Amino acid sequence: MFNAPMKICIIGTGYVGLVTGTCFAEIGHDVICVDNAPEKVKMLNSGQMPIFEPGLEEMVKRNAAAGRLKFTSSTKEGVEKSDVVFIAVPTPPQPDGSVDLSFMEKVSREIAEVLTRYKVIVDKSTVPVRTGEKVAETIKRYCKSKVEFDVVSNPEFLREGFAVDDFLHPDRIVLGVQNQRPVHALKEIYAPIKAPVVVTDINSAELIKHASNSFLALKISYINAVSVICEEAGANVEEVAAGMGMDKRIGRSFLNASLGFGGSCFPKDLSAFIKISEQLGYDFGLLREVQKINALQMERFVRKMADTLWVIKEKKIGVLGLAFKQNTDDIRMSPAIALCQRLRKEGAHLRVYDPKAMDKAKTVLKEVTFVDDMNKVPEGCDALVIATEWPQFKELDLDNARKVMTHPILFDGRNLFDPAQMETLGFIYKSVGR
Ligand code: UDX
Repeated sequence: MFNAPMKICIIGTGYVGLVTGTCFAEIGHDVICVDNAPEKVKMLNSGQMPIFEPGLEEMVKRNAAAGRLKFTSSTKEGVEKSDVVFIAVPTPPQPDGSVDLSFMEKVSREIAEVLTRYKVIVDKSTVPVRTGEKVAETIKRYCKSKVEFDVVSNPEFLREGFAVDDFLHPDRIVLGVQNQRPVHALKEIYAPIKAPVVVTDINSAELIKHASNSFLALKISYINAVSVICEEAGANVEEVAAGMGMDKRIGRSFLNASLGFGGSCFPKDLSAFIKISEQLGYDFGLLREVQKINALQMERFVRKMADTLWVIKEKKIGVLGLAFKQNTDDIRMSPAIALCQRLRKEGAHLRVYDPKAMDKAKTVLKEVTFVDDMNKVPEGCDALVIATEWPQFKELDLDNARKVMTHPILFDGRNLFDPAQMETLGFIYKSVGR
Protein backbone atom coordinates (compact mmCIF):
# COMPACT_ATOMS: atom_id res chain seq x y z
CA MET A 1 0.00 0.00 0.00
CA PHE A 2 1.03 3.64 -0.48
CA ASN A 3 3.47 5.28 1.92
CA ALA A 4 4.41 8.92 2.58
CA PRO A 5 5.31 11.19 0.86
CA MET A 6 2.13 10.47 -1.05
CA LYS A 7 1.31 11.32 -4.64
CA ILE A 8 -1.88 13.36 -4.44
CA CYS A 9 -4.16 14.89 -7.04
CA ILE A 10 -6.67 17.60 -6.12
CA ILE A 11 -9.45 18.26 -8.62
CA GLY A 12 -10.80 21.81 -8.29
CA THR A 13 -8.76 24.82 -7.11
CA GLY A 14 -11.43 26.82 -5.28
CA TYR A 15 -10.98 27.79 -1.62
CA VAL A 16 -11.03 24.22 -0.35
CA GLY A 17 -9.09 22.60 -3.21
CA LEU A 18 -6.32 25.19 -3.36
CA VAL A 19 -5.81 25.30 0.41
CA THR A 20 -5.93 21.49 0.67
CA GLY A 21 -3.43 20.96 -2.15
CA THR A 22 -1.07 23.64 -0.88
CA CYS A 23 -1.16 22.39 2.71
CA PHE A 24 -0.59 18.78 1.62
CA ALA A 25 2.49 19.98 -0.29
CA GLU A 26 3.57 21.98 2.76
CA ILE A 27 3.55 18.83 4.91
CA GLY A 28 5.75 17.06 2.37
CA HIS A 29 3.52 15.34 -0.21
CA ASP A 30 3.76 15.55 -4.02
CA VAL A 31 0.66 17.38 -5.15
CA ILE A 32 -0.82 18.08 -8.55
CA CYS A 33 -3.87 20.36 -8.67
CA VAL A 34 -6.28 20.18 -11.59
CA ASP A 35 -8.63 22.93 -12.68
CA ASN A 36 -10.69 22.96 -15.85
CA ALA A 37 -10.18 26.73 -16.28
CA PRO A 38 -6.87 27.05 -18.19
CA GLU A 39 -6.55 30.77 -17.34
CA LYS A 40 -6.69 29.92 -13.61
CA VAL A 41 -4.02 27.25 -14.06
CA LYS A 42 -1.86 29.77 -15.91
CA MET A 43 -2.36 32.31 -13.13
CA LEU A 44 -1.44 29.79 -10.43
CA ASN A 45 1.60 28.57 -12.36
CA SER A 46 2.85 32.16 -12.51
CA GLY A 47 2.39 32.54 -8.73
CA GLN A 48 -0.77 34.70 -8.86
CA MET A 49 -3.63 33.92 -6.49
CA PRO A 50 -7.27 33.79 -7.66
CA ILE A 51 -8.39 34.48 -4.06
CA PHE A 52 -7.08 36.36 -1.04
CA GLU A 53 -6.36 34.07 1.89
CA PRO A 54 -3.82 35.01 4.58
CA GLY A 55 -0.54 33.06 4.22
CA LEU A 56 -1.62 31.13 1.13
CA GLU A 57 0.33 32.99 -1.56
CA GLU A 58 3.72 32.52 0.13
CA MET A 59 2.92 28.86 0.78
CA VAL A 60 1.94 28.24 -2.87
CA LYS A 61 5.13 29.92 -4.12
CA ARG A 62 7.36 28.07 -1.65
CA ASN A 63 5.97 24.64 -2.47
CA ALA A 64 5.79 25.25 -6.22
CA ALA A 65 9.47 26.32 -6.15
CA ALA A 66 10.34 23.16 -4.21
CA GLY A 67 8.64 21.10 -6.95
CA ARG A 68 6.02 19.65 -4.60
CA LEU A 69 3.05 21.61 -5.98
CA LYS A 70 1.99 21.67 -9.63
CA PHE A 71 -1.07 22.94 -11.50
CA THR A 72 -2.57 21.48 -14.67
CA SER A 73 -5.82 21.60 -16.59
CA SER A 74 -5.59 17.90 -17.48
CA THR A 75 -7.55 15.51 -15.25
CA LYS A 76 -5.83 12.63 -17.02
CA GLU A 77 -2.37 13.92 -16.07
CA GLY A 78 -3.42 14.61 -12.47
CA VAL A 79 -5.04 11.22 -11.94
CA GLU A 80 -2.31 9.23 -13.67
CA LYS A 81 0.43 10.84 -11.60
CA SER A 82 -1.20 10.17 -8.23
CA ASP A 83 -2.31 7.45 -5.83
CA VAL A 84 -4.98 9.41 -4.00
CA VAL A 85 -7.39 11.74 -5.82
CA PHE A 86 -9.31 14.40 -3.87
CA ILE A 87 -12.44 15.91 -5.42
CA ALA A 88 -12.92 19.54 -4.34
CA VAL A 89 -15.33 20.89 -6.95
CA PRO A 90 -18.17 23.36 -6.34
CA THR A 91 -21.52 21.98 -5.18
CA PRO A 92 -23.68 25.08 -5.74
CA PRO A 93 -27.26 25.51 -4.58
CA GLN A 94 -30.21 25.14 -6.96
CA PRO A 95 -33.23 27.46 -6.78
CA ASP A 96 -35.17 24.95 -4.61
CA GLY A 97 -32.32 24.74 -2.06
CA SER A 98 -31.08 21.33 -3.18
CA VAL A 99 -27.46 20.83 -4.25
CA ASP A 100 -26.32 20.81 -7.86
CA LEU A 101 -24.07 17.74 -8.04
CA SER A 102 -23.34 17.92 -11.74
CA PHE A 103 -19.65 18.81 -11.21
CA MET A 104 -19.27 15.83 -8.85
CA GLU A 105 -20.85 13.54 -11.44
CA LYS A 106 -18.73 14.93 -14.28
CA VAL A 107 -15.48 14.59 -12.35
CA SER A 108 -16.40 11.05 -11.25
CA ARG A 109 -16.85 10.12 -14.93
CA GLU A 110 -13.60 11.80 -15.91
CA ILE A 111 -11.68 9.94 -13.20
CA ALA A 112 -13.28 6.63 -14.25
CA GLU A 113 -12.21 7.14 -17.83
CA VAL A 114 -8.51 7.44 -16.93
CA LEU A 115 -8.36 4.92 -14.08
CA THR A 116 -5.82 2.20 -14.85
CA ARG A 117 -4.74 1.00 -11.40
CA TYR A 118 -6.03 1.00 -7.80
CA LYS A 119 -6.59 4.49 -6.41
CA VAL A 120 -8.36 6.08 -3.48
CA ILE A 121 -10.93 8.69 -4.54
CA VAL A 122 -11.69 11.14 -1.75
CA ASP A 123 -14.58 13.56 -1.67
CA LYS A 124 -13.67 16.89 0.02
CA SER A 125 -16.59 18.91 -1.36
CA THR A 126 -19.59 19.45 0.91
CA VAL A 127 -22.22 17.05 -0.40
CA PRO A 128 -25.58 15.60 0.62
CA VAL A 129 -25.59 12.29 2.43
CA ARG A 130 -25.39 9.33 -0.01
CA THR A 131 -23.28 11.22 -2.57
CA GLY A 132 -20.28 8.93 -1.91
CA GLU A 133 -22.43 5.94 -2.91
CA LYS A 134 -23.27 7.72 -6.18
CA VAL A 135 -19.64 8.59 -6.85
CA ALA A 136 -18.65 4.93 -6.39
CA GLU A 137 -21.51 3.76 -8.64
CA THR A 138 -20.58 6.28 -11.36
CA ILE A 139 -16.88 5.40 -11.36
CA LYS A 140 -17.74 1.71 -11.58
CA ARG A 141 -20.13 2.35 -14.47
CA TYR A 142 -17.74 4.46 -16.57
CA CYS A 143 -14.47 2.66 -15.83
CA LYS A 144 -13.73 0.46 -18.84
CA SER A 145 -10.87 -1.59 -17.41
CA LYS A 146 -12.67 -2.67 -14.20
CA VAL A 147 -9.86 -1.57 -11.89
CA GLU A 148 -10.36 -1.56 -8.15
CA PHE A 149 -10.79 1.72 -6.26
CA ASP A 150 -12.15 2.97 -2.96
CA VAL A 151 -14.25 6.04 -2.28
CA VAL A 152 -13.73 8.03 0.94
CA SER A 153 -15.62 11.00 2.35
CA ASN A 154 -13.25 13.47 4.02
CA PRO A 155 -15.22 16.67 4.72
CA GLU A 156 -13.32 19.91 5.24
CA PHE A 157 -14.10 22.30 8.10
CA LEU A 158 -11.78 25.21 7.31
CA ARG A 159 -13.06 28.77 7.57
CA GLU A 160 -12.23 31.35 4.94
CA GLY A 161 -9.80 33.94 6.28
CA PHE A 162 -8.24 31.34 8.60
CA ALA A 163 -8.09 28.54 6.05
CA VAL A 164 -4.41 27.60 6.21
CA ASP A 165 -4.31 27.59 9.98
CA ASP A 166 -7.62 25.71 10.25
CA PHE A 167 -6.40 23.12 7.76
CA LEU A 168 -3.13 22.50 9.58
CA HIS A 169 -4.70 22.57 13.07
CA PRO A 170 -8.15 21.01 12.75
CA ASP A 171 -10.26 19.86 15.70
CA ARG A 172 -10.72 16.50 13.97
CA ILE A 173 -10.14 14.69 10.70
CA VAL A 174 -13.21 12.81 9.51
CA LEU A 175 -12.80 9.78 7.24
CA GLY A 176 -15.93 8.09 5.92
CA VAL A 177 -15.06 4.72 4.37
CA GLN A 178 -16.79 1.72 2.81
CA ASN A 179 -14.07 -0.65 4.04
CA GLN A 180 -10.73 -0.40 5.90
CA ARG A 181 -8.47 -0.62 2.83
CA PRO A 182 -8.03 3.15 2.17
CA VAL A 183 -7.66 4.11 5.84
CA HIS A 184 -3.89 3.54 5.95
CA ALA A 185 -3.23 5.81 2.94
CA LEU A 186 -5.38 8.60 4.37
CA LYS A 187 -3.77 8.33 7.80
CA GLU A 188 -0.32 8.52 6.11
CA ILE A 189 -1.39 11.69 4.32
CA TYR A 190 -2.60 13.34 7.50
CA ALA A 191 0.14 11.93 9.79
CA PRO A 192 2.02 15.27 10.16
CA ILE A 193 -1.22 16.97 11.28
CA LYS A 194 -1.86 16.40 14.95
CA ALA A 195 -5.61 15.87 15.32
CA PRO A 196 -7.91 12.99 16.27
CA VAL A 197 -8.98 10.90 13.27
CA VAL A 198 -12.62 9.85 13.29
CA VAL A 199 -13.34 6.89 11.02
CA THR A 200 -17.01 6.35 10.15
CA ASP A 201 -19.11 4.99 7.31
CA ILE A 202 -19.43 7.34 4.31
CA ASN A 203 -22.99 8.45 5.00
CA SER A 204 -22.16 9.44 8.58
CA ALA A 205 -19.09 11.42 7.44
CA GLU A 206 -21.18 13.33 4.92
CA LEU A 207 -23.77 14.06 7.59
CA ILE A 208 -21.13 15.27 10.08
CA LYS A 209 -20.39 18.15 7.71
CA HIS A 210 -23.96 19.30 7.06
CA ALA A 211 -24.99 18.78 10.69
CA SER A 212 -21.96 20.77 11.95
CA ASN A 213 -22.45 23.76 9.68
CA SER A 214 -26.18 23.84 10.34
CA PHE A 215 -25.53 23.69 14.08
CA LEU A 216 -23.09 26.62 13.89
CA ALA A 217 -25.63 28.64 11.89
CA LEU A 218 -28.22 27.71 14.50
CA LYS A 219 -25.90 28.99 17.24
CA ILE A 220 -25.60 32.37 15.48
CA SER A 221 -29.36 32.63 14.92
CA TYR A 222 -29.92 31.68 18.55
CA ILE A 223 -27.78 34.55 19.82
CA ASN A 224 -29.34 36.88 17.23
CA ALA A 225 -32.79 35.98 18.58
CA VAL A 226 -31.48 36.56 22.12
CA SER A 227 -30.15 39.95 20.91
CA VAL A 228 -33.74 40.98 20.09
CA ILE A 229 -34.83 40.12 23.62
CA CYS A 230 -31.83 42.02 24.99
CA GLU A 231 -32.78 45.14 23.05
CA GLU A 232 -36.38 44.97 24.23
CA ALA A 233 -35.42 44.23 27.85
CA GLY A 234 -32.52 46.67 28.09
CA ALA A 235 -29.89 43.94 28.53
CA ASN A 236 -26.53 43.55 26.82
CA VAL A 237 -26.12 40.57 24.46
CA GLU A 238 -22.31 40.66 24.78
CA GLU A 239 -22.60 40.07 28.51
CA VAL A 240 -25.21 37.38 28.01
CA ALA A 241 -22.99 35.61 25.45
CA ALA A 242 -19.95 35.88 27.71
CA GLY A 243 -21.89 34.37 30.62
CA MET A 244 -23.37 31.62 28.47
CA GLY A 245 -20.05 30.87 26.80
CA MET A 246 -18.31 30.15 30.10
CA ASP A 247 -20.38 26.99 30.30
CA LYS A 248 -18.07 24.47 28.61
CA ARG A 249 -21.08 22.67 27.18
CA ILE A 250 -22.01 25.83 25.27
CA GLY A 251 -18.71 27.65 24.52
CA ARG A 252 -18.32 31.33 23.59
CA SER A 253 -17.55 30.93 19.88
CA PHE A 254 -20.25 31.62 17.26
CA LEU A 255 -22.23 33.61 19.81
CA ASN A 256 -21.51 37.01 18.25
CA ALA A 257 -24.75 38.80 17.51
CA SER A 258 -24.59 40.43 14.11
CA LEU A 259 -26.36 41.55 10.96
CA GLY A 260 -26.69 37.83 10.25
CA PHE A 261 -24.45 35.16 8.78
CA GLY A 262 -23.49 34.89 5.12
CA GLY A 263 -20.81 33.37 2.93
CA SER A 264 -20.71 30.51 0.52
CA CYS A 265 -21.31 27.81 3.15
CA PHE A 266 -23.83 28.46 5.92
CA PRO A 267 -26.77 29.70 3.78
CA LYS A 268 -26.18 26.99 1.19
CA ASP A 269 -25.57 24.15 3.64
CA LEU A 270 -28.64 25.05 5.69
CA SER A 271 -30.90 24.98 2.62
CA ALA A 272 -29.31 21.74 1.48
CA PHE A 273 -29.73 20.05 4.86
CA ILE A 274 -33.38 21.13 5.04
CA LYS A 275 -33.92 19.72 1.54
CA ILE A 276 -32.09 16.45 2.24
CA SER A 277 -34.14 15.99 5.42
CA GLU A 278 -37.33 16.65 3.46
CA GLN A 279 -36.32 14.05 0.86
CA LEU A 280 -35.70 11.58 3.70
CA GLY A 281 -39.19 12.29 5.09
CA TYR A 282 -38.32 14.69 7.93
CA ASP A 283 -39.47 18.29 8.17
CA PHE A 284 -36.50 20.09 9.80
CA GLY A 285 -38.57 23.08 10.93
CA LEU A 286 -35.89 24.10 13.44
CA LEU A 287 -33.50 24.89 10.60
CA ARG A 288 -36.15 26.80 8.65
CA GLU A 289 -36.50 28.99 11.74
CA VAL A 290 -32.70 29.53 11.70
CA GLN A 291 -33.02 30.91 8.15
CA LYS A 292 -35.99 33.06 9.16
CA ILE A 293 -34.17 34.60 12.13
CA ASN A 294 -31.18 35.33 9.90
CA ALA A 295 -33.31 37.20 7.35
CA LEU A 296 -35.15 39.07 10.11
CA GLN A 297 -31.89 40.24 11.64
CA MET A 298 -31.09 42.25 8.51
CA GLU A 299 -34.64 43.63 8.41
CA ARG A 300 -34.41 44.74 12.04
CA PHE A 301 -31.10 46.47 11.36
CA VAL A 302 -32.51 48.41 8.41
CA ARG A 303 -35.56 49.31 10.51
CA LYS A 304 -33.25 50.54 13.27
CA MET A 305 -31.51 52.79 10.74
CA ALA A 306 -34.83 54.09 9.44
CA ASP A 307 -36.10 54.75 12.99
CA THR A 308 -33.06 56.92 13.69
CA LEU A 309 -32.71 58.65 10.31
CA TRP A 310 -36.48 58.86 9.77
CA VAL A 311 -35.98 58.88 5.99
CA ILE A 312 -33.17 56.93 4.32
CA LYS A 313 -33.80 58.38 0.86
CA GLU A 314 -31.10 60.89 -0.22
CA LYS A 315 -29.07 60.33 2.98
CA LYS A 316 -25.32 59.99 2.53
CA ILE A 317 -24.28 56.80 4.31
CA GLY A 318 -20.75 55.44 4.78
CA VAL A 319 -20.38 51.66 4.88
CA LEU A 320 -17.29 50.00 6.33
CA GLY A 321 -17.01 46.38 5.19
CA LEU A 322 -18.21 44.56 2.08
CA ALA A 323 -16.79 41.04 2.54
CA PHE A 324 -19.07 38.48 4.21
CA LYS A 325 -16.66 38.46 7.15
CA GLN A 326 -13.16 39.54 8.16
CA ASN A 327 -9.91 38.34 6.51
CA THR A 328 -11.41 37.54 3.13
CA ASP A 329 -12.19 39.20 -0.18
CA ASP A 330 -15.20 36.90 -0.61
CA ILE A 331 -18.53 38.69 -1.09
CA ARG A 332 -20.70 35.64 -1.80
CA MET A 333 -23.96 35.95 0.16
CA SER A 334 -22.38 38.83 2.07
CA PRO A 335 -24.75 40.53 4.52
CA ALA A 336 -22.73 43.73 3.93
CA ILE A 337 -23.46 43.67 0.19
CA ALA A 338 -27.13 42.85 0.83
CA LEU A 339 -27.31 45.83 3.19
CA CYS A 340 -25.72 48.15 0.60
CA GLN A 341 -28.15 46.96 -2.07
CA ARG A 342 -31.05 47.48 0.31
CA LEU A 343 -29.91 51.00 1.24
CA ARG A 344 -29.43 51.87 -2.44
CA LYS A 345 -32.96 50.67 -3.12
CA GLU A 346 -34.21 52.98 -0.37
CA GLY A 347 -32.47 55.84 -2.21
CA ALA A 348 -29.37 56.35 -0.01
CA HIS A 349 -26.05 57.58 -1.46
CA LEU A 350 -23.27 55.26 -0.35
CA ARG A 351 -19.56 55.72 0.34
CA VAL A 352 -18.08 52.26 0.85
CA TYR A 353 -14.75 50.70 1.84
CA ASP A 354 -13.35 47.23 2.48
CA PRO A 355 -9.68 46.30 3.06
CA LYS A 356 -9.80 43.41 0.55
CA ALA A 357 -13.16 43.03 -1.16
CA MET A 358 -13.38 46.29 -3.17
CA ASP A 359 -12.59 44.75 -6.58
CA LYS A 360 -15.13 41.97 -6.16
CA ALA A 361 -17.73 44.41 -4.78
CA LYS A 362 -17.31 46.66 -7.84
CA THR A 363 -18.75 43.86 -9.96
CA VAL A 364 -22.05 43.85 -8.05
CA LEU A 365 -22.48 47.31 -6.48
CA LYS A 366 -23.39 50.02 -8.93
CA GLU A 367 -23.74 53.77 -8.36
CA VAL A 368 -21.87 53.81 -5.06
CA THR A 369 -18.65 55.67 -4.26
CA PHE A 370 -15.71 53.37 -3.51
CA VAL A 371 -13.33 55.10 -1.09
CA ASP A 372 -9.75 53.87 -0.77
CA ASP A 373 -9.19 54.80 2.89
CA MET A 374 -11.51 53.95 5.78
CA ASN A 375 -10.87 57.32 7.42
CA LYS A 376 -12.14 59.16 4.33
CA VAL A 377 -15.46 57.25 4.29
CA PRO A 378 -17.22 59.39 6.95
CA GLU A 379 -16.68 62.68 5.02
CA GLY A 380 -20.04 64.44 4.67
CA CYS A 381 -22.03 61.37 5.82
CA ASP A 382 -25.31 61.47 7.70
CA ALA A 383 -24.51 58.05 9.17
CA LEU A 384 -21.83 55.42 9.22
CA VAL A 385 -22.37 51.63 9.24
CA ILE A 386 -20.02 48.83 10.31
CA ALA A 387 -21.08 45.87 8.16
CA THR A 388 -18.11 43.46 8.42
CA GLU A 389 -16.12 42.48 11.51
CA TRP A 390 -12.67 43.56 10.20
CA PRO A 391 -10.62 44.19 13.38
CA GLN A 392 -8.90 47.22 11.80
CA PHE A 393 -12.20 49.11 11.83
CA LYS A 394 -11.65 49.44 15.58
CA GLU A 395 -8.73 51.74 14.67
CA LEU A 396 -11.04 54.15 12.84
CA ASP A 397 -10.19 57.78 13.75
CA LEU A 398 -13.42 58.46 15.62
CA ASP A 399 -12.59 62.08 16.52
CA ASN A 400 -12.05 62.84 12.87
CA ALA A 401 -15.19 60.91 11.88
CA ARG A 402 -17.31 62.92 14.29
CA LYS A 403 -15.93 66.18 12.89
CA VAL A 404 -16.29 65.39 9.18
CA MET A 405 -19.74 63.75 9.35
CA THR A 406 -22.87 65.84 8.90
CA HIS A 407 -24.23 63.98 11.93
CA PRO A 408 -22.22 61.61 14.12
CA ILE A 409 -24.50 58.58 13.89
CA LEU A 410 -22.92 55.11 13.88
CA PHE A 411 -24.80 51.86 13.22
CA ASP A 412 -22.58 49.00 14.31
CA GLY A 413 -23.78 45.73 12.76
CA ARG A 414 -20.86 43.82 14.29
CA ASN A 415 -20.67 45.24 17.83
CA LEU A 416 -17.07 46.39 17.35
CA PHE A 417 -17.30 49.43 19.60
CA ASP A 418 -18.19 50.01 23.23
CA PRO A 419 -21.55 51.82 23.59
CA ALA A 420 -20.47 53.88 26.64
CA GLN A 421 -17.28 55.03 24.92
CA MET A 422 -19.16 55.98 21.76
CA GLU A 423 -21.57 58.05 23.80
CA THR A 424 -18.68 59.83 25.55
CA LEU A 425 -17.22 60.60 22.13
CA GLY A 426 -20.50 62.25 21.16
CA PHE A 427 -21.93 59.65 18.77
CA ILE A 428 -25.48 58.47 18.46
CA TYR A 429 -24.54 54.81 18.52
CA LYS A 430 -26.78 51.83 17.68
CA SER A 431 -25.48 48.28 17.74
CA VAL A 432 -27.00 44.78 17.92
CA GLY A 433 -28.59 43.57 21.16
CA ARG A 434 -27.19 46.26 23.45
C1 UDX B 1 -17.97 28.07 7.72
C2 UDX B 1 -17.59 27.06 8.80
O1 UDX B 1 -17.17 27.78 9.98
C3 UDX B 1 -16.49 26.13 8.32
O2 UDX B 1 -16.21 25.14 9.30
C4 UDX B 1 -16.94 25.47 7.01
O3 UDX B 1 -15.89 24.65 6.50
C5 UDX B 1 -17.36 26.50 5.97
O4 UDX B 1 -18.36 27.36 6.54
P1 UDX B 1 -16.94 30.32 6.69
O5 UDX B 1 -18.15 30.39 5.82
O6 UDX B 1 -15.59 30.52 6.08
O7 UDX B 1 -16.84 28.90 7.45
O8 UDX B 1 -17.12 31.46 7.82
P2 UDX B 1 -17.43 31.53 9.39
O9 UDX B 1 -16.25 32.09 10.07
O10 UDX B 1 -17.97 30.28 9.92
O11 UDX B 1 -18.58 32.65 9.38
C6 UDX B 1 -19.79 32.48 8.64
C7 UDX B 1 -20.69 33.69 8.78
O12 UDX B 1 -21.21 33.78 10.11
C8 UDX B 1 -20.01 35.03 8.52
O13 UDX B 1 -20.89 35.86 7.80
C9 UDX B 1 -19.76 35.59 9.90
O14 UDX B 1 -19.69 36.98 9.93
C10 UDX B 1 -20.98 35.08 10.65
N1 UDX B 1 -20.81 34.92 12.10
C11 UDX B 1 -19.90 34.05 12.59
C12 UDX B 1 -21.63 35.64 12.97
O15 UDX B 1 -22.48 36.43 12.53
N2 UDX B 1 -21.49 35.45 14.30
C13 UDX B 1 -20.57 34.59 14.84
O16 UDX B 1 -20.52 34.46 16.08
C14 UDX B 1 -19.76 33.86 13.95
